[in-house]
Amino acid sequence: MGKNSKDKRDLYYRRAKEEGYRARSAFKLLQMNEQFALFDDISKVVDLCAAPGSWCQVLTSEIKKDKKIVAVDLQPMTPIDGVTCLQADITHPKTLQKILDIFDGEKADFVCSDGAPDVTGLHDLDEYIQAQLVLSALQLTTCILKPGGKFVAKIFRGRDIDLLYNQLNHLFETVICAKPRSSRGSSLEAFVVCLNYQPPKDWNPQLKLNQSTEEFFENVDIGKAKNVQYFDLNDDERSIVKFLACGDLNDGDSDATYTLDKERIVLPPVQMPTAPPYKEALEMKRKGLAR
Ligand SMILES: C[S@@+](CC[C@H](N)C(=O)[O-])C[C@H]1O[C@@H](n2cnc3c(N)ncnc32)[C@H](O)[C@@H]1O
Repeated sequence: MGKNSKDKRDLYYRRAKEEGYRARSAFKLLQMNEQFALFDDISKVVDLCAAPGSWCQVLTSEIKKDKKIVAVDLQPMTPIDGVTCLQADITHPKTLQKILDIFDGEKADFVCSDGAPDVTGLHDLDEYIQAQLVLSALQLTTCILKPGGKFVAKIFRGRDIDLLYNQLNHLFETVICAKPRSSRGSSLEAFVVCLNYQPPKDWNPQLKLNQSTEEFFENVDIGKAKNVQYFDLNDDERSIVKFLACGDLNDGDSDATYTLDKERIVLPPVQMPTAPPYKEALEMKRKGLAR
């Protein structure tokens, strides 16, 4: 595939390069902010699964006062002014302690997670791994977010997503499923936007090694499948939430292909991946060790 063809097929990929963003994901956060005013009255933010860092770029430019932004990712991140980058796994309890140390006793106003595992193409498996990543992000969030705070996380709208909606409804006043225009209509991707964190009274969530998600939420009246064997949920274990498309209708369609001016110069990406999963394969190929 030529470089030009990706520019044609992906308006937001092209715009990200033109506007200096490290990834097209920046527009998803911007479009959700247009709808939900996410950046109003926030200064302390945890950006989970943040590499290469386009959400951090948006956050540093949109938050004007007293900002403290912590970015966490498995991949190393090229530094961004005003952002503390942690190379860590969000599913590991030690990661929370590192974030708490940086916040030095304060709580976050906003936690976001754009986490995605490397997809296998097996939809059920991909949905399951994504759901586990969201639950890890949620666990971490309950330990660092202040009451009244906001949480946004990427989800795949699979068969059992209404169980997650139900769990979130126990912890937040408002839960919405948002689909930014820059997220391809053809993809199952969407975002849960959770407003006004309301932790149950006297709940002091703590992450421990070897603790299951179920044990973590044990003392909270949170929806969970009772009939686990058949995953046959009762109506009170599922929730339906509002679905909202966000972003201006004039913003451009992420599924459309656009004709480009012949003279147009194809810009290089703003930030090359620091440690892409294919790096080792390329190295082996260069040494003649792989075909
Ligand atoms: C779609 S990218 C995030 C893009 C980012 N929001 C931006 O705007 O640049 C998904 C990221 O999730 C990260 N990730 C996946 N699993 C993770 C985990 N267990 N802990 C930390 N990061 C993880 C990946 O390394 C990847 O960088």
